[in-house]
Amino acid sequence: MNPGNLQQMSARGEKIAMLTCYDASFASLCETAGMDALLVGDSLGMVLHGATSTLAVTLRDMQYHTRCVANGAKNTCIIADMPFGSYQQSPEQALHNAARLMAAGAHMVKLEGGSVMAETVRFLTARGIPVCGHLGFTPQSVHQLGGYRVQGRSVDDAQRLLEDAKALESAGAGLLVLEMVPAALAKEITAQLSIPTIGIGAGVDCNGQVLVLHDMLGIYPGKTPRFARNFMEGAESVQAALAAYVQAVKNGAFPASEHSF
Ligand code: KIV
Repeated sequence: MNPGNLQQMSARGEKIAMLTCYDASFASLCETAGMDALLVGDSLGMVLHGATSTLAVTLRDMQYHTRCVANGAKNTCIIADMPFGSYQQSPEQALHNAARLMAAGAHMVKLEGGSVMAETVRFLTARGIPVCGHLGFTPQSVHQLGGYRVQGRSVDDAQRLLEDAKALESAGAGLLVLEMVPAALAKEITAQLSIPTIGIGAGVDCNGQVLVLHDMLGIYPGKTPRFARNFMEGAESVQAALAAYVQAVKNGAFPASEHSF
C-alpha cells in the first residue's frame, strides 16, 4: 500500500481508514485490522512524551518512531509528520529532513500550512517525496491560533482554507488532512479537490478519517477531544477495537454528528 493506492481507493469511493501509530507492535495490530494508512504523528510529543503540545518533538524522535512503525507494518502506507522547525525555513531544509523520514521507512511526509508551504510542497514532490498537507487546526501553530479551536467558521476564514487546499493540491500534495473544521466546509473542500481529504473533527464527508491511537483506545489521560470516539467501549480486545474503527470509517458510521462541528 502506498499513497497512490489511497488515491485509487478514494476514486472508487472507498473510505480511507487512518490512525496514528508510534511503535511496531501497534503497527502490526493495525495492519491486521485492515488499516489503510498509519500516521506517525508528532502527537507523540503529547501521548508518548507527556508534553502539552507537539512543539518539542525532534526529527530524531520522528525518525525513531517511523522506523519502529515501518518494522511492524510492511504492507501499510506510512506517513510521517515533519516536526516543528524541520521544514519551514526553506524548501532545501524540508528536502534534507524529509529524506531522513523517507529513509526511516515513510512513504509520504506530512507538513502543516497552506499557500505559504506550496513552494516547499512543489519542491519535495518534484524530487520524489509524496506530501500530505494539513489544514484547519494545525497543532504546531497552537499558540498563534490561540488554543485548540475550530478553524474556518467565518466566511473569510472558510474561503482562505479552500484557497489553501487548492494551492496545496496544485503544488502536488497527494493527500490533505483537515483538522477541526466545520463539516460543511470539509465537505465543500472535498468536493472541490481531486486528492483525498482525511478528516479529524471534520465530519463524515471527507474521503477518510484519522484519529490519535490513544484517543480511540481511551487511554490518553488528558482531555478527550469531542471529535474522538473510544472504540474500546464494547470491544473485547485492542485488536477488536481497531477492527471496529476500520469498519466504522469504511461504512460511514464514524464520525457521527456528535463528533463533528
Ligand atoms: O500528529 C498527529 O497525530 C496529527 C493528527 C492529529 C492528524 O497530525
